[in-house]
Amino acid sequence: MIKKCLFPAAGYGTRFLPATKATPKEMLPILTKPLIQYGVEEAVEAGIHTMAIITGRGKRAIEDHFDISYELEHQIKGESKENLLTEIRSLISSCTFSYTRQIEMKGLGHAILTGETLIGDEPFAVLLADDLCTHEEDSVLKQMIDVYEKYQCSIIAIEEVAMEDTNKYGVIAGELVDNTTNTYRVTDMVEKPDSKDAPTNMAIIGRYILTPDIFDILRETKPGKGGEIQITDALLEQAKQGNVIAYKFKGTRFDCGSVEGFVEATNYFYQGVH
Ligand code: G1P
Repeated sequence: MIKKCLFPAAGYGTRFLPATKATPKEMLPILTKPLIQYGVEEAVEAGIHTMAIITGRGKRAIEDHFDISYELEHQIKGESKENLLTEIRSLISSCTFSYTRQIEMKGLGHAILTGETLIGDEPFAVLLADDLCTHEEDSVLKQMIDVYEKYQCSIIAIEEVAMEDTNKYGVIAGELVDNTTNTYRVTDMVEKPDSKDAPTNMAIIGRYILTPDIFDILRETKPGKGGEIQITDALLEQAKQGNVIAYKFKGTRFDCGSVEGFVEATNYFYQGVH
């Protein structure tokens, strides 16, 4: 059983400045809902109710979002506007949220290691809220949990990207283990390679199921690409033991970490409600 989901949310979101000067990028809304709420909803759809959020300075709005705002509730009580809070209220009542701060920005691997105190010694999910995923049947995280139940090792979500975009992602090489479920046993992984060095065009997207031995590996992982501690490098150690499966998920991902992807997601969701 995967019971906890870790949300690394300490990054500065510099691509969205000045919007992210005083607002966490995870709180930027697609229509009326902040990115991180979509992430939490995806986790809940996968049966996860314990959220572990890695924050940093200037990120308090995230904690306030997943809490009751008594003043506001009092103000709109009995009005039709109250309905706008139904979804978030039920989310808050069905989940617990724990937070810890990443003091220094030393990369995604470091952020995940910071979360050890909230996760403990059990397999867990990681969700990067700026990769917003839509799906038809099961949520992407739910699909991955099904894969985890079969293989009982770390699972990463992948999708094919244009070769010239490999430098934006962790990229994998692997052997197809199951054609019908689109799963690969990972043999190599590289963080943000130039297209000429990329082993394939299969890119990692921001969904992971990790086994807890990843924490010990991360403690030993030296800074890699960009001088940061990379989860991709730590996962390569597990992959060398045959313990990482890549899964080509069913659904659509929007890269809401870029302005272009953010606008695409906004248009997509707007069409969905009108
Ligand atoms: C991170 C990971 C990268 C992965 C990406 C998915 O990069 O380091 O391997 O492909 O998330 O969004 P970031 O986008 O945080 O730079």
